[in-house]
Amino acid sequence: MAKKLTTAEILAQARKQAAGESAGAESPPPATESADAGTQPEAASAAPAAAPKKPAAGGAKPTSTADILAAARAQKAAGAAAPAGDKPAAKATPKSTADILAAARGKAAAAVPAKGEGKGAKPAATGAAVASGEPLPSVEEMMKAVRGGSGGPAAEPAVKPKPTLPPLPKKPVVAAKKAPEAVSRRGVVMSLIGTPFAAAWTFLTATTATATLAMARFMFPNVLVEPPTRFKVGPPGDYPLGTVSNKWKSSRGIWIVHTDQYDGGNLIYALASVCTHLGCTPNWLDGEQKFKCPCHGSGFYITGINFEGPAPRPLERVGLRVAPDGMLEVDKSVKFQEEMGQWADPTSYVEIA
Ligand code: FES
Repeated sequence: MAKKLTTAEILAQARKQAAGESAGAESPPPATESADAGTQPEAASAAPAAAPKKPAAGGAKPTSTADILAAARAQKAAGAAAPAGDKPAAKATPKSTADILAAARGKAAAAVPAKGEGKGAKPAATGAAVASGEPLPSVEEMMKAVRGGSGGPAAEPAVKPKPTLPPLPKKPVVAAKKAPEAVSRRGVVMSLIGTPFAAAWTFLTATTATATLAMARFMFPNVLVEPPTRFKVGPPGDYPLGTVSNKWKSSRGIWIVHTDQYDGGNLIYALASVCTHLGCTPNWLDGEQKFKCPCHGSGFYITGINFEGPAPRPLERVGLRVAPDGMLEVDKSVKFQEEMGQWADPTSYVEIA
């Protein structure tokens, strides 16, 4: 099989051949050279006379690649046609798809046996098959015939085996999702309480309630609830002479004293249980017959006159009178101080006849 030449080889071969032709056209024939070297100028002059036998090439040298290719093709065709006397004609190379299909149809028609003919029968010509009304072979049949007749690779099987795919990996079994449980009312409430939104509302509500209560308290005045300053302590007979009663000390803050040691009179009066030093509450010591302050040791007689300790003055009396019902009535709103001569006021004592 002839080796397929590349374009470069074709060009090189064409140039070589063209150069040889031009050399042959310019140089005298070898016979003339060998015959007589002295007649070379004449032979050279005679050469143009012999030149008309060869095709004129307008200078005999291709000027372009197209000319070179054309010359190469023409020479190749001539070389192929020269030995065609004994050998069959070379296959014409299809140049287009139409040519390929035409050639394929011709081969296929020749390969497919006509109906009614035996296996050994020769295929009829394409024109004859068309003229006889036989169906033309399909493109696949023609392609098979072309492949088989051209000596190419063996015909591929009609059905290609499908590639065996590897088995897909099994998907992991996912546990079925549990259906969402019904949200109970308690759950909703608890979820609301535990949220920042609920905490904010709780804080706001508590703040508002506190402010409301503070405003309500502001609307009422500060009142010191104290027992009334005027109150009855019983009949004079409940307080014998020479005694100090502690009955009203804790609840009313007074002593009821019945004595005759102050100016010789038989008097009942009420002493405030407040030390005149710094306001502590003294105690009556019946055995010592004196009032004794536990804070700084001030001492007072039964009459209320101070005699020891830092107390600067006697105890104070409060108002006392006999009510219309015969009961002793104390009035703490009024106070009497001995150093100011107020103990002489008859409203500061009750004289017992
Ligand atoms: Fe009573 Fe100081 S307060 S002695």
